[in-house]
Amino acid sequence: MSILNTLEQVADRHHVFPFMMPQQAPALDVSHNVLLYLEGISVSFDGFKAINDLNLYIDDGELRCIIGPNGAGKTTMMDIITGKTTPDSGSAWFGQTINLLDLDEPAIAQAGIGRKFQKPTVFEALTVWENLELAMADDRAVWSILHARLNSEQQDLLHETLILIGLKSHAKMQAGKLSHGQKQWLEIGMLLMQKPRLLLVDEPVAGMTHQEMDRTAELLTSLAGRHSVVVVEHDMDFVRSLAGKDRTVSVLHQGSVLSEGSMDKVQNDPRVIEVYLGE
Ligand SMILES: Nc1ncnc2c1ncn2[C@@H]1O[C@H](COP(=O)(O)OP(=O)(O)O)[C@@H](O)[C@H]1O
Ligand SMILES: [Mg+2]
Repeated sequence: MSILNTLEQVADRHHVFPFMMPQQAPALDVSHNVLLYLEGISVSFDGFKAINDLNLYIDDGELRCIIGPNGAGKTTMMDIITGKTTPDSGSAWFGQTINLLDLDEPAIAQAGIGRKFQKPTVFEALTVWENLELAMADDRAVWSILHARLNSEQQDLLHETLILIGLKSHAKMQAGKLSHGQKQWLEIGMLLMQKPRLLLVDEPVAGMTHQEMDRTAELLTSLAGRHSVVVVEHDMDFVRSLAGKDRTVSVLHQGSVLSEGSMDKVQNDPRVIEVYLGE
């Protein structure tokens, strides 16, 4: 290409250069039934190893609880999965084909990984329904979705989600008037509108009443199967009700998995007892 051609293209404001194209992940492949692979992941902050040779595998449709003392690296692990933090070494794959370390944060969200932070971030001035409606749109479509009628598939998803999060009778209520627990459920609902394959939830029951905690456990268990869910939580009673007898619990300590298995197994693991007693 001649230099003149290039100059002409640069001058053309509508030309799309390859670097301007949004990143796009390959199609998801879970033929081995594993949705998330973290292998040999390490990351240091100022010489301190927050994550240290971490290995973690999440099955397709699994609900996994992750516990561990403060500073164990739980939030940092989520930062790595979602592309907020780049590890110093190791690999992170979403299914067989998607290398998460090749993607930036928006591309990872687009590929099907949703994250719920501790603090709910709903639009307080909008109704519950409008919050869910907005969450369905990607950035470019926000304007059009507010001004267009939802198609029937979108309406179905919205109704289903309202029932799932227990806010059917609150659809027209301003989100700012909801209780703390209800706001948390609304935010989970907003994530679901993006149809994530993997949902990461960081300490969902902090500040909730016991009744709200029970309802949250029900909600998260009902998501498993259709979605994979990774729940990081400090509250042991909550983890016990979420994990039941059969689900796998991973205990994180100093940036790696200290113990893994049923709640009964990890709770009776002397290394886990020592770490929690020392807290
Ligand atoms: N951006 C950062 N810069 C420096 N240190 C960090 C950063 N993020 C986390 N850490 C440190 O890494 C360790 C793990 O933190 P974190 O992942 O938040 O643990 P957890 O969520 O299990 O409580 C902590 O010692 C924390 O201070
Ligand atoms: Mg944390």
